[in-house]
Amino acid sequence: MRGLFIVLEGPDGSGKTTQITCLQQYLESRGRDCLVTREPGGTRIGEAIRKIILDPDYREMADVTEMLLYAASRAQLVHDVIGPAIEEGKIVISDRFVDSSIVYQGIARGLGTETVDLINAPGIGTYKPDLIFFIDIPEEEGIARKMQQKKLDRLEQQSIDFHRMVSLGYRRVLENRPEVIRIDGCRPVEEIQNEIIEHILGYIIS
Ligand code: TYD
Repeated sequence: MRGLFIVLEGPDGSGKTTQITCLQQYLESRGRDCLVTREPGGTRIGEAIRKIILDPDYREMADVTEMLLYAASRAQLVHDVIGPAIEEGKIVISDRFVDSSIVYQGIARGLGTETVDLINAPGIGTYKPDLIFFIDIPEEEGIARKMQQKKLDRLEQQSIDFHRMVSLGYRRVLENRPEVIRIDGCRPVEEIQNEIIEHILGYIIS
């Protein structure tokens, strides 16, 4: 039996990580075997790549290098973690997947969505998300939230225009796709959580 592949997408500061933690607790309390992972990272090699990609010191990183590093981290994650877990029938919850690259590198960096698709295809193989929750927040809101929280990483330090392109890009790339559920990220955490759980319950037999 194949498992279920759930992805949370959204701009920086949209609250994905908080939602994933709550969701994992909920599913485990119901006895579901679930596995949470993040991008970039989630494997030994992926975490090493994450350090390189997000380090603000690497100001000189070319956009193409950035795209290839994200794709490399993802390929290892699918190979080591996502693929095996889905084949074992687990519920996999991933903090970001290929649509992050389509939006950040394809649209905001301007490398083109087809190029990003092509580069990522060999690493992803047949593993496509069954459900994508898109946590949508107003353009400037997310990065403003991040600024209050911590030191910004290399991607978060991009201009406000970059983050605006990310928000608009997400809306464009994820609209009219049957597996995508758009969630209004400006509401209280519990309200968002309940909406996510309601959708998931339709997919899992409890
Ligand atoms: P993330 O781990 O979600 O950030 P944080 O945990 O600090 O909120 O993602 C790190 C950054 O990488 C984020 O700015 C989005 C960016 N990113 C891409 O540009 N392309 C990608 O393919 C992925 C997965 C992330």
